Amino acid sequence: MEVEEIRVTPWEAEAFVDYNKLIKIFGSRPITESEIELLKSITGELHLMIRRYVFYSHRDFDKFLEAYRSSIKCALYTGRGPSGHTHLGHILPWIFTKWLQDKMGLELFFQMTDDEKFWHSEGGSFEEYNRLAYENILDLAALGLDPAKTHVIIDSEDISFIYPIAVKVAKKITFSTQRAAFGFTDSTNVGMIFYPTLQISVAFLPTHLYGERVEVLIPAGIDQDPYWRIARDMAPSLGYPKPAQIHNKLLPGLGIGGKMSSSKPETAIYTTDSPEIARQKVMKAFTGGQPTAELQRRLGGNPDMCPVFKMFEMLFEEDDEKLTMRYNSCKSGALLCGECKAELADRVARFLKDHQTRRRAAESIIDKYLIRNKFSTPGTSKSKRP
Ligand code: TYM
Repeated sequence: MEVEEIRVTPWEAEAFVDYNKLIKIFGSRPITESEIELLKSITGELHLMIRRYVFYSHRDFDKFLEAYRSSIKCALYTGRGPSGHTHLGHILPWIFTKWLQDKMGLELFFQMTDDEKFWHSEGGSFEEYNRLAYENILDLAALGLDPAKTHVIIDSEDISFIYPIAVKVAKKITFSTQRAAFGFTDSTNVGMIFYPTLQISVAFLPTHLYGERVEVLIPAGIDQDPYWRIARDMAPSLGYPKPAQIHNKLLPGLGIGGKMSSSKPETAIYTTDSPEIARQKVMKAFTGGQPTAELQRRLGGNPDMCPVFKMFEMLFEEDDEKLTMRYNSCKSGALLCGECKAELADRVARFLKDHQTRRRAAESIIDKYLIRNKFSTPGTSKSKRP
């Protein structure tokens, strides 16, 4: 299957892939000037992840924005499989989601799939994945997601919120669809085979919970797309609006090739890494530079294939002009990799120091994010907010 050929699935993905080809394979649409203008007409300004096409592909993003402009009820949905601590790749879509929440005043439904990670893992206790779900909520809080408007569903504890939807969703999915979309085989455990039902169900939760049509936008990495294709196919037959998506490219890890991933801890920067450890990881990073300083000065580097440059581009350089200058001085050979890495290491260390202070402060407010403390279980007569 072509999707596997370029290796982007929810559980395995490269970062330096042909993203335009992915759009064709997945059948989504590139974000164009017209969606960008529409967004700007609502938000007044553009996030760097939009200006730089980090979020680059979508389904019905335009329709979602039009619905918002027409005052139709709208919400955001995203999530995390708490396989470990959060790394910078995970927070990338959350930073943008927070921006959307702030600019558009939207509620966010956030799924923590402790069950998925247990079913998918080779080892690791279920209790540990559940504990990590709470650790990961601290990162949402540290990023400033609004506790009054952010509703976290921890699958194993909040299943009653999604199960009434999941029973209907499950009936619409065959094993053959699952095989084609996710590459499941006869030896895949049945937890994993059932799991997509749960990720899809949360896309319908806002409508279910409010008892009225709620348009949902899912900002997430392109690797999560297979779920949404299935969700969109079945939505009309279940009486739910088709969820819209906006897809981000994947932040590379600091090694060669792959996305930043929990399966390669030495090339990932975790929000819990000490600034000193993170600094060391950055200084050891693979780059798009030449093997020696002399060759670099003569031939220049390749920022397009460099994870260090991508970190500036996707997260750490707000100023477009400064980013272009960095790009050009790398290409011309004026900027050496050691210098560039040291600058990134400083920024990462500063970010971590601040983030960790906010993370510690968030320990006392985790409860404010939990859906169970804010809504009654849907499907009962008390489905409205207390
Ligand atoms: P998970 O935990 O693998 O990833 C969480 C989010 O982070 C994105 N992501 C990345 N983005 C940029 N660069 C990277 N290197 C990178 N690595 C991961 C993912 O695309 C995702 O948006 N099954 C899901 C959990 C989930 C979910 C959802 C995700 C449940 N419902 C709704 C998104 C939307 C998972 O394991 O994500």
